[in-house]
Amino acid sequence: MRKILVTGALGQIGSDLVTALRQRYGDEHVIASDIRMIPSGQDSEGPFELVDCTSPHQLHEVVRRHGVDLIYHLGALLSATAEEKPQIAWAVNMGGLYNVLEVARQYDCAVYFPSSIGAFGPSTPLDQTPQDTIQRPTTMYGVTKVSGELLCDYYASRFGVDARGLRLPGLISHSSPPGGGTTDYAVDIFRQALRYQHYTCYLRPDSRLDMMYMPDAIQAMIALMEADAASLVHRNAFNVSAMSITPAELADAIAKRIDGFQIEYEVDPVRQSIADSWPNSLDVSAARAEWGFAPEYDLAAMCDDMIEKLSHEITPASR
Ligand code: SER
Repeated sequence: MRKILVTGALGQIGSDLVTALRQRYGDEHVIASDIRMIPSGQDSEGPFELVDCTSPHQLHEVVRRHGVDLIYHLGALLSATAEEKPQIAWAVNMGGLYNVLEVARQYDCAVYFPSSIGAFGPSTPLDQTPQDTIQRPTTMYGVTKVSGELLCDYYASRFGVDARGLRLPGLISHSSPPGGGTTDYAVDIFRQALRYQHYTCYLRPDSRLDMMYMPDAIQAMIALMEADAASLVHRNAFNVSAMSITPAELADAIAKRIDGFQIEYEVDPVRQSIADSWPNSLDVSAARAEWGFAPEYDLAAMCDDMIEKLSHEITPASR
């Protein structure tokens, strides 16, 4: 049975991934870790460790003590925060990944690395972006993602580290909010719609980006790491996406489900220019062919589920 370490476990992906991994492999087989402690009042069903991935010693100690053989390395800064603090983004995103790959090399661990649509740039073909294409990102986040893809490939070919990964689109989730991303609007809009029937969006109405519902992303991360290595031609940095949508299209879908919902736009130039440099839609055929990627949620199914789940915790503000 695998022993799995998840870094950045308290983040947007980590909290859902840890739950899914514990259901699949057992609580004691999944070690959640983060740079911060679990907020008081929340319990961890299994082991939790305080780990700063920029500290190689902390990583070594936890991997050795628990006998870890697979690391889902999620600790990183997202795109908008990385643009605000590019030096810290390089130190955390690249320094953390380097330390994880080094510990993986020494303790013979497999590694999952989340790349992103941010690994592409304005010179990439924007529609049906191929799996193998031009990658000249113009953001620090994107620079760390392309470099991360390359570093994973290097550790695989040079040292035999089984490093795999996905180029994730914007992820939409009801359980934990994202922080500091360019695609965060697609989560915030649901919370604001349920509470205030109104949302002010920081991207233009026509900003088309790839998105995926969190259950599909979690399923994809687990499927990729369980896939037979012999069937993986690319192994790393697979394009994945379940829908290619604009804020206007998402707002329409929400307005059909929440009476009186209205959207307005106040464009944030930093996040808009990041979004403009990313693809409109990814070609996911390599992921389908090599390990059976098959997301279940389209725009309508995702909206239905988000609203159903969030309506248990968010009630309309009295007007
Ligand atoms: N969701 C991420 C972001 O917006 C993209 O990978 O930064």
